[in-house]
Amino acid sequence: MSKLAIFGGVPVREEPFKTSVVVDEREWEYVKQILEKREFSRFMGSPSKDIEKQLTMSSVEAESYESQYFTFLGGKMVRRFEAEFAKKFGVPYAISVNSATSGLSAALGSAGIGPGDEVITTCMSFNATATSILLFNSIPVFVDVDCKNYCLDPNEIEKAITPKTKAILVVHLLGNAADMDAIMKIAKRHNLIIIEDCAQSPGTKYKGNYVGTIGDIGVFSFQETKNMTTGEGGMVITKNPLLAKKIRLIRNHGESIPDSSWDEDSLVNIVGMNFRMTELTAALGVAQLAKLDENNRVRTENTLFLVDKLKNLSGVSVPVYKSGVVPHVFPLLYDNRVTGVGRQKILAALRAEGIPVGSGYLRLMYENPLFLKKIAYGREQCPWSCHLYNYKREYKSGDCPIAENILREKFIWFYHINRPNGIDEMKDVVSAFEKVFENIEFLRRSAIVAEVGYKW
Ligand SMILES: Cc1ncc(COP(=O)(O)O)c(C=O)c1O
Repeated sequence: MSKLAIFGGVPVREEPFKTSVVVDEREWEYVKQILEKREFSRFMGSPSKDIEKQLTMSSVEAESYESQYFTFLGGKMVRRFEAEFAKKFGVPYAISVNSATSGLSAALGSAGIGPGDEVITTCMSFNATATSILLFNSIPVFVDVDCKNYCLDPNEIEKAITPKTKAILVVHLLGNAADMDAIMKIAKRHNLIIIEDCAQSPGTKYKGNYVGTIGDIGVFSFQETKNMTTGEGGMVITKNPLLAKKIRLIRNHGESIPDSSWDEDSLVNIVGMNFRMTELTAALGVAQLAKLDENNRVRTENTLFLVDKLKNLSGVSVPVYKSGVVPHVFPLLYDNRVTGVGRQKILAALRAEGIPVGSGYLRLMYENPLFLKKIAYGREQCPWSCHLYNYKREYKSGDCPIAENILREKFIWFYHINRPNGIDEMKDVVSAFEKVFENIEFLRRSAIVAEVGYKW
């Protein structure tokens, strides 16, 4: 049995895992095109004669839309990226934005969600899922997850519905697909809008359909750790022309409402932001979209290798992947009752072996002081204190026991299943786990001060 690195032994791996983006000649070529053209955005926020036409044309039509100068729908590269994304996902409208956070806010805004409305969402996701709900002053209602896929549990959704519920913001967490059949049934029964947060799941399919195309609107992130990346950026997709029109207006200052004859439902929430994507970002997007399938294939291959090699390790459960799922992170469930060793000790030992594992999110979203204290806009508990809400919503530890247990006790996440890491790197992960678990007796008897949180 070799000595653990945490006690001075030789680590399994000295070299850091690769975190840099895989770039090929396409990124260079498309970015060069933009630099040569010297057209960095080409978005115009003010009204033009044919604004109604621009607001409603499909992304494919918009790509070949000719204009001498600027357009309401952005420059040529932005429109090319949107058209290619729309084709890939089989939807008429793909609307680029500068982040998924902006995209989620625009999506909720376009659906007319606002003060006094509740949006049901999962308790376990990245903070932006919840804060995007606050942008138009609606109220997040957090529900517990299904322990099989870490996504919204449909039974918990049913229990959380009130007369104020207007939408469900579904997150396809870690690449898993939520139970969309059950969720769509609930939405139909209660006349609710469904927005899919696909930040971590571009390319995942649920029963043969891409996630993001099943509900009313799908939102993707191109932040640097995602399956395809432009550094920062996002995409909103929909089949609904009215929603597309409003998302386009919210993205681009909202000034271009054709005239005040629009009915109030159409005018609602078009406060107008600047959520626009630049031509340079879109150039990276076109190149990255072309390799999404390959990136996803490698993520899947690496993950299935880890599942196979670690499945018999006593004290951890490996994920069970449904067909069509593209893993975004590799999550294990650790059981300290089997090993008698606290999770933080295991994490510290694995990190010392050169494997940057983490324990998942820092906290559940409702455990953020923003929600515990209900302090968002100013000091007077807006939007919870809004007269249109008129309901006392509280957030507290214990609200979602399944997610709390998974996050506080069980999760061990390994992030670097992405290209250019491959099977050779995964072999080191397996060796490190095997080494640490071979030494479990020794770990149990030793005192280690272990740090909390995640580590890249
Ligand atoms: C589930 C989820 N939703 C939303 C976001 C926000 O994405 P962005 O950073 O593009 O705003 C993230 C980013 O990590 C995410 O993981």
